[in-house]
Amino acid sequence: MKHWSLIFVATVAIASSSNAVVALSPPIEPLSWDEAHVKAEKLVKQMSLEQIASITKGSGLFTGQCVGNSGGTTHPDFPSLCLADGPLGVRGSPFSSAFAAGITAAASFDKDAIRQRGIDMGAEFRGKGANVQLGPSMNIARNARAGRNWEAFGEDPYLSGVAAAETIHGIQSQGVIATAKHFIGNEQETNRNTESSVIDDRTLHEVYLWPFARSVEAGVGTVMCSYNKLNGTYACENDYALNHILKKELGFRGWVHSDWLATHSTTKAINNGLDMTMPGGILYFGSALERAVKHGDIDYSRARDMAQRIVAAWYKMRQDKDYPAVRMNVNTASKDPGVNVQEDHKKSIREMGAAATVLLRNNNNVLPLDTSSIKKIAIIGGDADSSRDNNTSSMVQIGGQGTLIQGGGSGSSNVPYIVSPLDAITSRADAFDIDVASSKSDILKHKAAETAKDADVAIVFAQLYAEEAFDVTSLKLKTDGLIEVVADANNNTIVVIHSGNAVLMPWADHPNIKGILWAGMPGQETGNSLADVLFGAVNPSGRLPITFAKQASDYPSDISWKLEFEYDEKLLVGYRWFDAKDIKPQFEFGFGLSYTTFEYKDLHVHVEKNTTSNVTAKMQITNTGSRDGAEVTQLYLAFPEYVHEPPKVLRGFEKVFLKKGHTANVTFELTKTELSVWDVKKQKWVVPSGDYEVLIGASSRDIRLHETFTL
Ligand SMILES: *[C@@H]1O[C@H](CO)[C@@H](O)[C@H](O)[C@H]1NC(C)=O
Ligand SMILES: *[C@@H]1O[C@H](CO)[C@@H](O)[C@H](O)[C@H]1NC(C)=O
Ligand SMILES: *[C@@H]1O[C@H](CO)[C@@H](O)[C@H](O)[C@H]1NC(C)=O
Ligand SMILES: *[C@@H]1O[C@H](CO)[C@@H](O)[C@H](O)[C@H]1NC(C)=O
Ligand SMILES: *[C@@H]1O[C@H](CO)[C@@H](O)[C@H](O)[C@H]1NC(C)=O
Ligand SMILES: *[C@@H]1O[C@H](CO)[C@@H](O)[C@H](O)[C@H]1NC(C)=O
Ligand SMILES: *[C@@H]1O[C@H](CO)[C@@H](O)[C@H](O)[C@H]1NC(C)=O
Repeated sequence: MKHWSLIFVATVAIASSSNAVVALSPPIEPLSWDEAHVKAEKLVKQMSLEQIASITKGSGLFTGQCVGNSGGTTHPDFPSLCLADGPLGVRGSPFSSAFAAGITAAASFDKDAIRQRGIDMGAEFRGKGANVQLGPSMNIARNARAGRNWEAFGEDPYLSGVAAAETIHGIQSQGVIATAKHFIGNEQETNRNTESSVIDDRTLHEVYLWPFARSVEAGVGTVMCSYNKLNGTYACENDYALNHILKKELGFRGWVHSDWLATHSTTKAINNGLDMTMPGGILYFGSALERAVKHGDIDYSRARDMAQRIVAAWYKMRQDKDYPAVRMNVNTASKDPGVNVQEDHKKSIREMGAAATVLLRNNNNVLPLDTSSIKKIAIIGGDADSSRDNNTSSMVQIGGQGTLIQGGGSGSSNVPYIVSPLDAITSRADAFDIDVASSKSDILKHKAAETAKDADVAIVFAQLYAEEAFDVTSLKLKTDGLIEVVADANNNTIVVIHSGNAVLMPWADHPNIKGILWAGMPGQETGNSLADVLFGAVNPSGRLPITFAKQASDYPSDISWKLEFEYDEKLLVGYRWFDAKDIKPQFEFGFGLSYTTFEYKDLHVHVEKNTTSNVTAKMQITNTGSRDGAEVTQLYLAFPEYVHEPPKVLRGFEKVFLKKGHTANVTFELTKTELSVWDVKKQKWVVPSGDYEVLIGASSRDIRLHETFTL
């Protein structure tokens, strides 16, 4: 019997691989969950309890090629899965790309570009044989100082939801399983392994759960539960969060795995919804799971369910056919020369870096640089410089060590090279016979002033480094003094900030600071992306996905040192708070300038009243300036007053590219998702009846058109 079945399996494998090249090279259309679960159920039925215990746990830290390696089985065959960091590219494996960080992807406000980033990242993980990409991150930037804000998509749940879904569709189109993380309430790093985030039901649903709900709709394969507690219970053993909300309410049919070492129990965690522990090792799962099932503490059916969820996600992404072998090459002893998966991704990385650069100020049209009159450019600051001269073997991001392209920790990636701002600007300036003088020290202010003094324009670079496990200590730049010295010396000063967090700008009103750019964390092509914007090859169209306050105390919340704290600003996260309390920010959510101008007109809101009410808003936009460019039109919704929503909430955005003089129609569709609020009593999403207002703007505070409608 066995002999025959082996031959049979081999024959099938050969037959399927011969036509698989056509059928299964990406893009891949994932199976439906129903189809995947039918296959998974069949396979798991053949598994012993020991085998189930093997595939639901990792092999421990530093035990395989990947940061997480689940156990495999033979008879039936199921492979060890490779779970690999991180949300912006492959970590710990050479010859892979450093993409823009999540916060920069969000700043693009460009659904197609965000999807393309997902596709390109997915292709690289697939090329390395990684089964799971541990991203995207989608925790909300509730705290301006949170150490992982750069990994995720900013302060707004709607924007985060769209960005998460696009990223997941992109990654999974390559047959790679994406991970929605970190579930849930992980909005700060301080005490993250012990703190309890207390979140009321409505806030949880409308703000923090929202991007996860969109991820589940997008078919995400895995969800990573977070380190923290939710309302006093660890997220990774939280019946309410995992079973009730994620699996029942959202209908998630993939598997939940722990953040690294975030599992705290066996029976409690498993019965409350955890399906796989990472990175595993001897604790909690494995033989402990087997014992708990034998003692009757865990139902055998629940053990099967854990395994079936894992196997189903693997089938769903069609990893059962022709999936590349793992070649992370982190183990130098393997002598694997490595596989280069970068393809031409540097092109889309460069494009996103440019499209996501946010032009915050452009007085006297200092930008784009006037190459016909400028003779000399001064470049100031360590952040302009390349990190360690392209030393690929050691190029990890450390604060203050050259230009900042990504943050640190598990959210970082391999960095194949960095095109520094200084290099890119210099080579562009050369083409126009413009001199570049630089002062790369953050400390030598006298030299900075000397360098800036006789240049036609001075560009001063600053950065705010952030890394996993730590919150940023202050939103104040270390180089405020340097910026002021340069501005005092040169009346055409441009400030460029690299950060994943908002920063304070006490120098913002200095009359000589004509330009301010927030370039986020743009990845390996940083210099080229920036030079494209500075020299006008790309008309900037990035928008702020976070609020830049005038002072830290203006924000609705701050990092807490308590071990239990409530999210007591409730729905008023980010710009919603600034709106509700009428506080003027330095630069508001959704803000960003262009080298051209746009006119908004003719808003028409159409309501279709049936069992579910749908609303369509149509308007026209015209590029009235002298350059081609893209505009991000934003739709905010004001709910009927009695519902007590924030003054307005983002519920739509479209990035529209227009040649100068051209006009386009923009249509926003508001479905039940956009029109609902969470009804705590009914425990469901409801569309409130009453008077609404549609607000169409170029930012959250630059509303150009509005119209009311009634449901
Ligand atoms: C969590 O705590 C908040 C605040 O006390 C409460 O409103 C909410 O209902 C709690 N959630 C759960 C699931 O108990
Ligand atoms: C670093 O690499 C980039 C891309 O290959 C190149 O353009 C740049 O000149 C290099 N910089 C240095 C200092 O070697
Ligand atoms: C690159 O960095 C590594 C680790 O810091 C160092 O050992 C090596 O000498 C560097 N290589 C070059 C060419 O600078
Ligand atoms: C800017 O500085 C230059 C050089 O010091 C000076 O010639 C020019 O008049 C200044 N322009 C303004 C508007 O202050
Ligand atoms: C909704 O109303 C439109 C007409 O306004 C109609 O065409 C459509 O069939 C209706 N849909 C449902 C689900 O009743
Ligand atoms: C925009 O819509 C209007 C009215 O529906 C139509 O007349 C016009 O041709 C459309 N313009 C473009 C550029 O599609
Ligand atoms: C409302 O929108 C959803 C999603 O676009 C659509 O499936 C549904 O048919 C629409 N309902 C009505 C009444 O138009």
